[in-house]
Amino acid sequence: MTKEEQYISLLPQIESLVSGEKDLIANMANIAAVLHDTFGFWWTGFYRVEGQELVLGPFQGPIACTRIPFGKGVCGAAWQQKKTIIVPDVHQFPGHIACSSASNSEIVVPVMRSNNVVAVLDIDSRDFNSFDSIDQYFLEQIAALVAVLL
Ligand code: SME
Repeated sequence: MTKEEQYISLLPQIESLVSGEKDLIANMANIAAVLHDTFGFWWTGFYRVEGQELVLGPFQGPIACTRIPFGKGVCGAAWQQKKTIIVPDVHQFPGHIACSSASNSEIVVPVMRSNNVVAVLDIDSRDFNSFDSIDQYFLEQIAALVAVLL
């Protein structure tokens, strides 16, 4: 199966997961798990906006930094710019926050509610250049499913 086909089969599963459960944390946890399991990412999870910081939410993978200030790292930049950021090589991204030295590429997708970022979905890969416009397209749809829960 291609990556696109995997996402296409995953979307209705995620829709049905979140339609049966109203709790944000429970749904973030299952979404992180299903993405992580399906694609074998290195780290898959959410950070939630709390004041001027992002605070670690449900995730799969090794332990991660718990708080990221506005504008800092890839996550803080996606929050500040209100857009998805794809980083083919994290070692080339100024200000990248290395929670794990094994991570080499990353995508961060903001979860938007009424033009405000309320959370971000952050995915790290051990491979360089893991993420492209296909990941962006589907992960933004998944982020939209999370946004309606907030
Ligand atoms: N690398 C991220 C920090 C979070 S960890 O990757 C889980 C960043 O630069 O924002």
